[in-house]
Amino acid sequence: MQLGDLPRVRLAHLPTPLEFAPRLSEYLGAPKIWIKRDDLTGLAFGGNKARKLEFLLGQARGEGCDVIITVGAVQSNHARMTAAAARKLGLEAIVVLNGDLPDHAQGNLLLDRIFGAEVRVIQTDDDYVLMGVVDDLARQLRRDGRKPYVIPRGGGNAVGAAAYVEAALELLSQANAAGLRVDAIVHASTSGGTQSGLYTGTKLTQSGAQVIGISAGPRREVVVTRVLGIVEELAAMLSLEWRPHPDDLIVYDDYVGERYGMPTKECLDAIRIVARTEGILLDPVYTGKGMAGLMGLIAQERLRSDQNVVFWHTGGQPAVFAYAAALQEG
Ligand SMILES: Cc1ncc(COP(=O)(O)O)c(C=O)c1O
Repeated sequence: MQLGDLPRVRLAHLPTPLEFAPRLSEYLGAPKIWIKRDDLTGLAFGGNKARKLEFLLGQARGEGCDVIITVGAVQSNHARMTAAAARKLGLEAIVVLNGDLPDHAQGNLLLDRIFGAEVRVIQTDDDYVLMGVVDDLARQLRRDGRKPYVIPRGGGNAVGAAAYVEAALELLSQANAAGLRVDAIVHASTSGGTQSGLYTGTKLTQSGAQVIGISAGPRREVVVTRVLGIVEELAAMLSLEWRPHPDDLIVYDDYVGERYGMPTKECLDAIRIVARTEGILLDPVYTGKGMAGLMGLIAQERLRSDQNVVFWHTGGQPAVFAYAAALQEG
């Protein structure tokens, strides 16, 4: 099967802009930094999930499903965008979230409610427990004559990742048109869907661009295993002869800090620096850590001054409002 044959619905405003960040590049001293604005995908405040949902909900619609179930943290961007996308297609959404339910819903949780998703909050850190709840729910819905479609955390499977193979091609064609050689792409990585697609797309085109994932939570080995698994699945789905090499995957977990969802000082600094040099907003859970990673790699000279680096802005801004206390100082 080819990318173009996959069932798809249109949800995102594409292509997203590729913008040079002159003041940020100057502030950091090197290299030249470009920002791929997937925060502007347009669906319910934007973000990387709009691309993935085009393919996931394309499959759901092809299978005649009428209710979409997904999982995530209480401030899940993926849950918010799934809730909105389901509504746009006239479907219902159930989001099963892990974490503590705040007294006042803010950020993504508030948006889940506005989009009318059924929100179930489970207090567990164990993905197996969460998926067990989802499986029970799907079974019950089927018994009731409904047709549920289950999307894994972050839309992190081959169907969702296919969107980021296409996104890599989109970037490379924008770069070609601008006469730009892309040496590295840096982005926040967690479920591995975005990285799998970008990695596959850059390899297939032999573009030479390195894809560097900065974990927003899981340990490096966990992200690498997820990415490898999705890339294998993707290669099989697209009938590719090519297979990934584990040593070839670049993931750093040095910028996570205490844990997922807990912003580090470097993350908060990165948010302010990008806001104050470029007028662009990052988020405290993913892209702030991703940018802290990019800055760390420059400081360690792992990204060189003669390189062109694309920071892939994957969205997440609604969480800013849920982290007002951490962001107010400074
Ligand atoms: C804003 C944002 N950036 C990055 C990611 C990580 O992307 P992926 O799940 O494809 O690894 C997510 C995932 O939820 C996200 O919401």
